[in-house]
Amino acid sequence: MAPISVAETLFDLLKSKIQQRQARVGIIGMGYVGLPLALLYSEQKFPVTGFDIDARKIETLSKGGSYIFRIAAEEIQAAKNNGFSATSDYSQISQMDAIIICVPTPLDEYHEPDLSFITGTTHSIAPHLRAGQLVILESTTYPGTTEEVVVPILEKENKAGLKAARNGPGIGKEFFVAFSPEREDPGNTTVARRDIPKVVGGLNSRAAELACALYGSIFNRTVPVSSPAAAEMTKLLENIYRCVNIALVNELKMLCLRMGLDIWEVIDAASTKPFGFHPFYPGPGLGGHCIPVDPFYLSWKAKEFDFRTRFIELAGEINTNMPYQVLASVSGALNQHKKSINGAKVLVLGVAYKKDIDDLRESPSLTIIELLQKDGAQVSYHDPYFPFIGKGRKYDLQMRCAELKDLGQYDCVVIVTDHSDYDYGMIVREAQLVVDTRNATRGIESSKIVRC
Ligand SMILES: NC(=O)c1ccc[n+]([C@@H]2O[C@H](COP(=O)([O-])OP(=O)(O)OC[C@H]3O[C@@H](n4cnc5c(N)ncnc54)[C@H](O)[C@@H]3O)[C@@H](O)[C@H]2O)c1
Repeated sequence: MAPISVAETLFDLLKSKIQQRQARVGIIGMGYVGLPLALLYSEQKFPVTGFDIDARKIETLSKGGSYIFRIAAEEIQAAKNNGFSATSDYSQISQMDAIIICVPTPLDEYHEPDLSFITGTTHSIAPHLRAGQLVILESTTYPGTTEEVVVPILEKENKAGLKAARNGPGIGKEFFVAFSPEREDPGNTTVARRDIPKVVGGLNSRAAELACALYGSIFNRTVPVSSPAAAEMTKLLENIYRCVNIALVNELKMLCLRMGLDIWEVIDAASTKPFGFHPFYPGPGLGGHCIPVDPFYLSWKAKEFDFRTRFIELAGEINTNMPYQVLASVSGALNQHKKSINGAKVLVLGVAYKKDIDDLRESPSLTIIELLQKDGAQVSYHDPYFPFIGKGRKYDLQMRCAELKDLGQYDCVVIVTDHSDYDYGMIVREAQLVVDTRNATRGIESSKIVRC
């Protein structure tokens, strides 16, 4: 019988720890992705440690509190009872068996990938790395990031001369690496998180097997692909597919408006086709951390291959223009009432980037508010999820949520986010004029409504 190598021992040890739910899972980035993931592992009785550089988040979690609307404090407390803890102390990385990185991947001011959060995290992990650990990147990014950015830093900066496990005979002093994209759809309660298959690309087959075992304990299905880059590209294909199709319906909506057709009626009718058509819906512009951002990770990378991703650029152009279309619709609607934007009192309803969630990132509402203000409107907003809008990466509004009453005082109410809690009948009854960017007033007949 061939002797068992150190590499095999490391692999078998981690696999058996995962199977027995004894593997210590460290999750880096306690945000919209990392915190729910930590709770899922904790529910399955894995010992979980959450890492973050945001001291307020660590303090809140340590006190058993939550800062994400859809996560109740009780869930954090239940996780704490199962051994969950939160820290900003990276030296604890050495005690982890598996490390999952869920940090932001925004665009910089030149609209290019900002990998500083990924590289910052990787520099912090590297000195504490030990043989046999599994490191998984979940942040959405361009194909090649795991292998070309994360692995070299980990290999160069760890203190024990460890190498990432690759195909071929194991060398013993190694750690395992994989990429697995997050596929959460915030606010979607129709698909249980467990039922969303998890795509996994390992740097070698053992890393893939370990990552599949780890995710297999909280997801019903794992989908192994041949490499981290294939998994990175899978996530981008999914998001680009959405981005391009949303741009398509946004463009067709503008044509329908000009032709006097109702795009929503047309989409509903087309959706009755039992094959070959998947509905996408127009809106005031893209929002969120993913769809407006991720496609440009690929167009940036494509340039390295002397390749232009024209669909991505065209979709970006159309979607970016949508808040300006909303502005034009508000202007046209006020004009019908012999009023101008300059000096008009406008209430923007909904600032979250989509309905029923507490996420403002890249929200088209923010652009629409800024555009209205720039043209001289006195803008107020209402959103049940945001009592205040302060400063973000690209805006500094310092506005307080208005009360949802006396709507007749506004020259125009603009529905930008169609939260389920709004009583649209009441809104139309009370308002002088309603510009509806989401078809939220469907079924309500009134000359006050301008659908755009
Ligand atoms: N939010 C979503 O719905 C969603 C869905 C799919 C994919 N993603 C992707 O997942 C990744 C994370 O997104 P998110 O929405 O959770 O972001 P987020 O901003 O909500 O959370 C990221 C967290 O990482 C922390 N962080 C930043 N640098 C750190 C460091 N060096 N060490 C430790 N913590 C650090 C931040 O303080 C923050 O708490 C992104 O790449 C995003 O594109 C997000």
